[in-house]
Amino acid sequence: MSRFDRQDELNHPRNEVPEFTQMVEKSLSRRRFLGGAAALGAAAFFATTPLSRAVAAATSSPLLGFKPVATSTDDAFIVPEGYKAERLVSWGDVLFDAVPEFKDSGNTADAQAGQFGDNNDGMSFFAIDDNNAILAVNNEYCNYELMFAHQGDNMSAQDVKYAQAAHGVSVLTLKKQNGRWQLVKDGKYNRRIHANTPMAISGPAKGHELLKTAADPKGERALGTFNNCANGMTPWGTYLTCEENFNGYFGSPGNADITPAMARYGIGHEGAGWKWHQHDTRFDLAENPNEPNRFGWVVEIDPKDPDSVPVKRTALGRFKHENAELVIADNGHVVVYLGDDERGEHLYRFVSKGKYNPDNMAANRELLEEGTLYVARFHADKDGKLKGKGEWLELTHGKNGLTAENGFASQADILIHARMAATQVGATTMDRPEWVAAHPSEPVVFCTLTNNKNRGVKDNQPVDGPNPRAENHYGQILRWKPAGGQHTTNEFDWDLFVLAGNPTVHPGTLYAGSANITADNMFNSPDGIGFDKAGRLWIQTDGNYSNEGNFAGQGNNQMLCADPHTGEIKRFLTGPVACEITGLTFTPDQRTMFVGVQHPGEEMAGSHFPFGGNRTPRSSVMIITREDGGIIGA
Ligand code: FEO
Ligand code: CA
Ligand code: CA
Repeated sequence: MSRFDRQDELNHPRNEVPEFTQMVEKSLSRRRFLGGAAALGAAAFFATTPLSRAVAAATSSPLLGFKPVATSTDDAFIVPEGYKAERLVSWGDVLFDAVPEFKDSGNTADAQAGQFGDNNDGMSFFAIDDNNAILAVNNEYCNYELMFAHQGDNMSAQDVKYAQAAHGVSVLTLKKQNGRWQLVKDGKYNRRIHANTPMAISGPAKGHELLKTAADPKGERALGTFNNCANGMTPWGTYLTCEENFNGYFGSPGNADITPAMARYGIGHEGAGWKWHQHDTRFDLAENPNEPNRFGWVVEIDPKDPDSVPVKRTALGRFKHENAELVIADNGHVVVYLGDDERGEHLYRFVSKGKYNPDNMAANRELLEEGTLYVARFHADKDGKLKGKGEWLELTHGKNGLTAENGFASQADILIHARMAATQVGATTMDRPEWVAAHPSEPVVFCTLTNNKNRGVKDNQPVDGPNPRAENHYGQILRWKPAGGQHTTNEFDWDLFVLAGNPTVHPGTLYAGSANITADNMFNSPDGIGFDKAGRLWIQTDGNYSNEGNFAGQGNNQMLCADPHTGEIKRFLTGPVACEITGLTFTPDQRTMFVGVQHPGEEMAGSHFPFGGNRTPRSSVMIITREDGGIIGA
């Protein structure tokens, strides 16, 4: 698993157990003890859900027109018959003429600042015309074991600068030549945004005391973005990049005061092994205790203007942001769904104050500046089935106990400490909310809950409705339908679209997975998800690739495709050794799909993807097309 799966084992002070979760716990415990009946329970649930039904292995949805691929442990990127996969860009590829070529060792910070960043993650395709486009790509983190001969054991100030330059976002100019999308070196949109790029802090928390530092006494200008996990895209042409595990980059020689708020965000003396604080005082908590408050935001970037200043939109709250799924509600408000990826954290929704104007893109540019943030609470049906109702709880100062007496002095306070506000209002602790995806034409939204070994183990994470399995190694995909089909209403109905599992290792229990999981399509740890225009749900995994024990027969990380109505799931591709598959975007004609291969060969696992031989493995963006030029997946 990726290093962050281990690094996010963090302090989380919450103990109350909502009554409904106790009820579900009882019901599900009973089912677990009943063994075979558990699987029947799951099947019955899916069979009675209007949006899905149990799928027999032989059925095939007309939406899923490809021949599924088998699991694989090969060091290869394998797509279905009739499909073609080519490399678009890899870590270190040069974006500007004057920049030196990447070397398998001995690269510099200056060179990296003009090269494609490392560990590509979420990405969005911005079409300019049929043959010209921009691809904005997150570069989440780096692998010191692959980056440095000393594997991170002997970091210097220069090494830290190099690592900082490998993080952030890469904006790429693409051109279609000879029928294939290619990176344009020195293209006019090419840009690297990294951990030292100046950015604006905007929205309600701008200028707050907790955002002020010696270098920025007004609390309005931050340097950089890092640990950019997944993403979002606005209809007004901007890119949203989400700051996830920012906490691990900060540390202290031991004399910094770690406040309860810092602890809630996983900030401590040690850091997560990046060692930036040892060589760059900005990351030393004793010197700059407020610097971490300037991270954990969603950042809006105009990819068409390489000189534009990225904007940290504080109205969307501060937590370990996974992605930002934006929909325009029927009433014109902008709704953004947001996951906080940590065991026992929460799922959020932002609703803009202003309304989208389809006739004036410039007028939409500040829609993420002001609005209302909500957090989800789930209720389970009384029969203990894996469905129920839920509600969005408002995180507004003066409401729901978010008052000065309870430690929230202002709206800015609530946004900076959104996790604590969520606890105050009684939000449900989740199994690591990763990406959220809204169906393109129906009012239904999906969220991956990737896994959670603490479920049913830690007091604050009881087995509950949407998180129904203790020590959940496999993950599940939650689905909800807003009341009245309106994304701005505060009530919804939820169910589970799929419980990932292993029917071979755990037959007859909830760990076998739901009825739409078979020995042929099983996987663990769903993470990236997204819909194409036709409403296929693409599912990417960041899971345990040991192919042993609980994960026997599941192979390398992979991407699957689901019919959201029937529940059928087919495996579409498998990735190389020790990678995660993450990031997906399409050309408007849906005939080219871009998919990310992240950290192949992490922890010296032996990958040489994509160049083979003895080459250093490099995270890469792949281009998938059909040999007959058809629509991907159809
Ligand atoms: Fe960067 Fe939650 O994955
Ligand atoms: Ca992820
Ligand atoms: Ca993940």
